Amino acid sequence: MKKIAFIVLGLFVFASTSTMAQKFDGLAETPPMGWNSWNEFGCNVDEDLIKETADAMVESGMKEAGYEYVNIDDCWHGERDEDGNITVDKEKFPSGMKALADYVHSKGLKLGIYSDAGYTTCAGYPGSRGYEYQDAQTYAEWGIDYLKYDWCDTEGLAAEGAYMTMRDALAAAGNPVVFSICEWGTAHPWEWADDVGHAWRISGDIYPCFDCEYKHEGGWSSWGVTKIIDMRKDQEIRQYSGPGHWNDYDMMEVGNGMKAGEDRAHFAMWAMLNSPLIAGNDIRDMSDQTRKILTNEEVIAVNQDPEGVEAWRYTVMDSTGVWVKPLADGDIAVAFLNRSQEDHEINFTWTNHVFGDPHFDYSFDFTETEYLVRDLWSGKNIGSTQKSTRFTVPGHDLNIYRLIKQ
Ligand code: GAL
Repeated sequence: MKKIAFIVLGLFVFASTSTMAQKFDGLAETPPMGWNSWNEFGCNVDEDLIKETADAMVESGMKEAGYEYVNIDDCWHGERDEDGNITVDKEKFPSGMKALADYVHSKGLKLGIYSDAGYTTCAGYPGSRGYEYQDAQTYAEWGIDYLKYDWCDTEGLAAEGAYMTMRDALAAAGNPVVFSICEWGTAHPWEWADDVGHAWRISGDIYPCFDCEYKHEGGWSSWGVTKIIDMRKDQEIRQYSGPGHWNDYDMMEVGNGMKAGEDRAHFAMWAMLNSPLIAGNDIRDMSDQTRKILTNEEVIAVNQDPEGVEAWRYTVMDSTGVWVKPLADGDIAVAFLNRSQEDHEINFTWTNHVFGDPHFDYSFDFTETEYLVRDLWSGKNIGSTQKSTRFTVPGHDLNIYRLIKQ
């Protein structure tokens, strides 16, 4: 009898705890916005860089534009101590991670950190495998608000289970954390990670070029902007994106060496695709042009739209793809992405088109409803959908319009 009681109790405890753990709700209801150290600084991270970046986020107007997370990528780690606790590299972070989190929080911002589901991170530092609950507890004690969780050194691990373990560990530690899955899309996280993380990478690493593939020694590649946009088109991943769970097209390369038009196209496409807007440049020292792109309020509003519907490619006109994103108030964002080097003149007769969503229930018929056409780069209304709109999309650039419902 006693034995049966124990089994029943055991089953009850198992059932209640196994359904208890979940990702933190109410976070990343719109795509996360912030900055990450990796694209520009690689392993050269330290507390001065992070503090100065937090200062710059405020002073540049980025905070006001919506950027919130200051994220340290790989290479902040020291060794594990004798109790297995992860420590920081004391030369790079002499004041410790808690003090750094306090500093970032004092600016009204949030601090993110990086770990890995395997035994070691991609740069060879200690990963969280076997230490998930202990590491999550440490992050909570430090006051960490965002965790990017990578996938190096994970031979023999199944991605879904490994990411669920860290999700549950974060939940057990109790401090709300945006959980960013960095598995490069290999195991198709869009199919299973809706309840696991708040965003999932869909590709290998980005590279600051418009359409190149950069081949590394060792047989792996980094990818230009259009390569990432195209990478998962066969899987039609837009249908899996929505509030609290986003396709992550990788941290941005705006301000990292591309031409202005390419940077504009990159930024606006990340906005159209609901990607997290995580700047990857040195925001302490950026050109006015870069700052203006990153802080364009009306393009950011497209990304942060509460409806959370990712754009689809409606059609291609020669070298130019036409992308459509329904917005919460009945407006529509439309982007014309020119992949060629040549300028493309377009005379777009709206009433010849019906934008029908291939996955959701949106349909926009311009013979039925009129919209004003607002150019989001110039901030000017340039016409109405009852007339044709004539414009030029420069080579390797993008025009973005908000169609304002009348
Ligand atoms: C890669 C990841 C990059 C960066 C790097 C750090 O796996 O995709 O974004 O985090 O590891 O080593």
